[in-house]
Amino acid sequence: MATGSTLPGNKRRCILVKKTVVVFVILLFLAGFIAFVCILASAQDVPRRVETTVEAITGDNDHSRVTFFIREDNFNVQRLVVTKLPDGGFQYSWTNTDEAGNPMVMVRQTGGPYDGYWRYTITQARNYQNYIYRFGRNGSWMEVRAFPPNENAHANYQKNTDTCKNCHSTHYALTSRLLNQKLVLELCLSCHDGSGSKYNVLDGEVIVPGGAVVSSPAGPFGSAVATSYHNVFREDTGTVLLAPGGTKTGLSCTDCHSAHVLQDQTKPVRASGFRLLKHYLYETPAGAMYDQPPVVAYSHVTGSSYETVYVSGMNEFCSHCHEHYNYGANPNPRLPSYPTHTLRTEGGDGILKSGQYYRHPTGINIAGWLKVPVRLPLEERGTGGRYMTCKTCHYAHGTAIISGYHYSDRFEVDKYAADGRPLDRSTMLKRTEGMGICLECHLDIWHNTGYRQ
Ligand code: HEC
Ligand code: HEC
Ligand code: HEC
Ligand code: HEC
Ligand code: HEC
Ligand code: HEC
Repeated sequence: MATGSTLPGNKRRCILVKKTVVVFVILLFLAGFIAFVCILASAQDVPRRVETTVEAITGDNDHSRVTFFIREDNFNVQRLVVTKLPDGGFQYSWTNTDEAGNPMVMVRQTGGPYDGYWRYTITQARNYQNYIYRFGRNGSWMEVRAFPPNENAHANYQKNTDTCKNCHSTHYALTSRLLNQKLVLELCLSCHDGSGSKYNVLDGEVIVPGGAVVSSPAGPFGSAVATSYHNVFREDTGTVLLAPGGTKTGLSCTDCHSAHVLQDQTKPVRASGFRLLKHYLYETPAGAMYDQPPVVAYSHVTGSSYETVYVSGMNEFCSHCHEHYNYGANPNPRLPSYPTHTLRTEGGDGILKSGQYYRHPTGINIAGWLKVPVRLPLEERGTGGRYMTCKTCHYAHGTAIISGYHYSDRFEVDKYAADGRPLDRSTMLKRTEGMGICLECHLDIWHNTGYRQ
C-alpha cells in the first residue's frame, strides 16, 4: 500500500530533500577528492624546497662547488644554456646534460647535515657566473639561481645556517617587519653598495668571471655617476614623487623587488624568478582580477660583459606604475579603455592617444618593420617576433649619460633629486645621448612612415 504516490505531501518532500542531500554530499566528497588529488599532484611535481650551498675549493680561486639539496626523491634536473648569435640576438634552451656532455642525475647524500637528501653538485662552478638550474617532473619545474662564490641572500636558504639574520632580527628589530635597518634602502645598500654582493647598484657595476668589473644592465643609482635615476632616496620623507603617466607616488627598492622568492603563488604580491621582480595581482577598474605576468629574462655573462636576454613581461612590469606609457599590442587592463596600436604594415593608420597624450608605441613586434639591424635590447618572446619594450630605450635604475637632457617645460610631472631639491632637467633614464636611440631604428625613417611622398 505504501507507495511513493500515496505518501502525504510533506513526507514526499522530506524524502526528496534527503535524496538531494545525499547526492549533494556525494558530489561534495567527489569534488573534495579531486581537489585533494590535484593538490597532491601539483605539490609533488616540484620540490617543496631546494637548499643550495656554495663552498670554496682549496687552491682554486676561480671556482666554487655548488650543491642543490632536495629532501624528496625522483626529481629531474636541467640547466639553462644561453648563447649569443652573430646578429646580436640570443638563444636560450634547457638541457639534461652537464657542461662536459654527461647526463645529469640526482644522487643520494650520505653523512653531514643533509644525510639522506638527494643532491646535484656542480663540482667546478665558475665564480661570478650565473647558474640557473631547474628541478621537477611531469612538465612542472622550479628554477633555482646560484651565484658563486656568494650564496644567494634571497632564496634557497639552508636549514642549518642563519641567513635570515642578514636582514631580520627576532627580538631587536627596528621595524614591524622585524628588519635590522629602519629604511629598506639602507638595508639593501648594506650589501649592494659593493660590499656584500657582486652587484654595486650605486655605481651600476657588476663583477664578471675573472674578476673584471663591468656595467650592469640596470644602470647606476648613485648621484656621483647618474644624471637621472628612479628616486629611491626619499623613502623617509614626505616628498611627493609622482610616476609620470600613472598614479603611483613614492618609491623604494621593495616596490619593484621582493626581498625573498615566495613559493606560495596564492599570495597577492609575488616575485618572479628574474631579479626578484614583483608581479602584482590587482583589481581592474572593471572589477576583475588581473594577474600581472612575471618578467621572464635571463643573463648572458662573459669575462667582459653582462647582458640581459629579455623574453617577456617588461612592459607590464614598468606600466604597473606608468600605465599610460604601455601603448602597443598588449591589453593593459588597468586602464578602462586601452588603445592598441596596429603597425602601418599591418593596416594600421597611425598613433592614438593614451591618457592625456599621444605616445610612442611600446609593446609592438618590430621584426617585420625593420630594414636595419637594431642593437637595442628587444624582447624575444619565442614566437619569432622581436618586441619593443620600455627597456629598449630606458635603464631601470638610472643612467650615466652626460647630455641629452630634457627640461622642465616638457616634464609630465614635477621632479626631485635625491636630496629633495626640485629638478629642472633630467636625462630620463635613457640608454643613449640625445636622439641616439631614435636613430637606431629610424635610420630609414622616410620609408616607414605614412607621410612620405
Ligand atoms: C636580503 C634581506 C632579507 C633576508 C636575507 C630575509 N628577509 Fe625576510 N624580509 C625582508 C624584507 C625587506 C621584508 C619586507 C618586505 C616588504 O616590505 O615588501 C621581509 C619580510 C619578511 C616576512 C614578512 C612577510 C612578507 O613576505 O612580507 C617574513 C615572514 C620574513 N621576511 C621571513 C624571513 C625568513 C624566515 C628569512 C630567512 C629564511 C628571511 N626572511 C630572510 C628581507 C629579508
Ligand atoms: C646580506 C647581503 C644582502 C642584502 C642585505 C641584500 N642583498 Fe640582494 N643580493 C645579495 C647577494 C649575495 C646576491 C647574489 C648575487 C651576488 O653574488 O652578489 C643578491 C642578489 C640580488 C638581486 C639579483 C637576484 C637575481 O636572482 O638575479 C637583486 C634584485 C637583489 N639582490 C635585490 C636586493 C634588495 C631589493 C635588497 C633589499 C631588500 C637586497 N638585495 C638586500 C646580497 C644581499
Ligand atoms: C613601483 C612603481 C614603478 C615602477 C614599477 C616603475 N617606475 Fe618609473 N617611476 C616611478 C615613480 C614614482 C617615478 C617618479 C619619481 C622619480 O622620478 O624617480 C618614476 C620615474 C620614472 C622616469 C622619469 C625619471 C626622471 O629622471 O625624470 C622614467 C624614465 C621611468 N620612471 C621609467 C621606468 C621604466 C623604464 C620602468 C620599468 C623598467 C619603470 N619606470 C618602472 C615608479 C615606478
Ligand atoms: C623601478 C623599479 C626598480 C626599483 C625602484 C629598483 N629596481 Fe633593481 N632592478 C629593476 C629591474 C627592472 C632590474 C633588471 C634590469 C635588467 O636586467 O634589465 C633590476 C636589477 C637589479 C639588480 C641586478 C643587478 C643589475 O644592476 O642589473 C639588483 C642587485 C637590484 N636591482 C637591486 C636594487 C636595489 C638595492 C634597489 C633599491 C636601492 C632597487 N634595485 C630598486 C627594477 C628596480
Ligand atoms: C622609443 C624609445 C622609448 C620607449 C620604447 C619608451 N620610452 Fe620612455 N622616454 C623616451 C624618451 C626619449 C623620453 C624623454 C622625454 C621625451 O622625449 O618625451 C622618455 C621619457 C619617459 C618618462 C618621463 C616622462 C616625463 O615627462 O617625466 C617615463 C616615465 C617613461 N619614459 C616611461 C616609459 C615606459 C614605462 C615605457 C614602456 C611602457 C617607455 N618609457 C618606453 C623614450 C622611450
Ligand atoms: C626599437 C625601434 C624604434 C625606436 C628605438 C624608436 N622608434 Fe619610433 N617607431 C618605431 C615603430 C615600429 C613605429 C611604428 C610604425 C608603424 O606604426 O608602423 C614608430 C613610430 C614613430 C613615429 C610615428 C610615425 C608615423 O608616421 O606615425 C614617430 C614620430 C617616431 N616613431 C619617433 C621616434 C622617436 C622620436 C624616437 C626616439 C625617442 C623613436 N621613434 C625611437 C620604432 C622605433
